[in-house]
Amino acid sequence: MTRTSSETVIALSGIHAGYGSTRVLRDFSLTVQRGELVGVVGPNGSGKTTLLKVLLGLVGPSDGRVEILGSTIYSGREADDRGLHGRGLKKSERARVRRAIGYLPQLHAPPALPITVDEAVLLGRWGRFSWLRRPDSEDRRIAGECLEMVGMAELSKRDLKTLSGGQRQRASLARALARRPQMLLMDEPTTYLDKHAKADLMVRIIDLHELLGITTIMVTHEEVPGRAFDRVLRMEEGYLL
Ligand SMILES: Nc1ncnc2c1ncn2[C@@H]1O[C@H](COP(=O)(O)OP(=O)(O)OP(=O)(O)O)[C@@H](O)[C@H]1O
Ligand SMILES: [Mg+2]
Repeated sequence: MTRTSSETVIALSGIHAGYGSTRVLRDFSLTVQRGELVGVVGPNGSGKTTLLKVLLGLVGPSDGRVEILGSTIYSGREADDRGLHGRGLKKSERARVRRAIGYLPQLHAPPALPITVDEAVLLGRWGRFSWLRRPDSEDRRIAGECLEMVGMAELSKRDLKTLSGGQRQRASLARALARRPQMLLMDEPTTYLDKHAKADLMVRIIDLHELLGITTIMVTHEEVPGRAFDRVLRMEEGYLL
């Protein structure tokens, strides 16, 4: 648990969101203060990944207001966001917010093309560099430091494909940290790992949160060690219980 402040960094109010005719989040409201470590626990299909996508600005709610890191990225009905004025303004706000968030997606197959662990972590700096600005020594230094923080420095030249699931998740955590994010969103970071790797990753996440104090939301269908979290929320069928 950390020094949380009274600065609100996430304010979701009355969110309705889904995909086409599939309604997923229903009248969903949530407020998070800077520095909090929040667990959101819910069964498969309850809308956890959708919640993270709303926070990332990847799924637009059909109704409700989303304020993140001081920016309103959605407000009111979808129609308002699609208006000429709302579109340009909110689009740039969403891009700014995206750059400030480190995201750990659910464990998926590694890329088919070879990529070393340090290159994969460096990609977390994307946005600081781009097609036009190549990564510089500072980007590489930060990527190396993040690999160090997750205990992966000695595996930095390995092909990502050759890592175990637990090591891949640690590399993914390093990539999210390489962004120097103001907020971390983690989607089932320990799912599919064995008992030992699960416990190892959970301890690392908690220790890093203690050390860096980054506001963190972890969604998962498994129990989390409640005492180490500031709050553990329960979610079912698109609602917070
Ligand atoms: N791109 C999509 N198009 C249509 N429906 C989707 C899409 N993504 C998710 N859904 C549906 O939305 C609902 C919630 O999905 P979501 O992925 O948010 O749940 P979850 O809680 O993350 O589940 P899990 O624990 O399995 O990861 C599910 O019914 C799912 O089928
Ligand atoms: Mg999910």
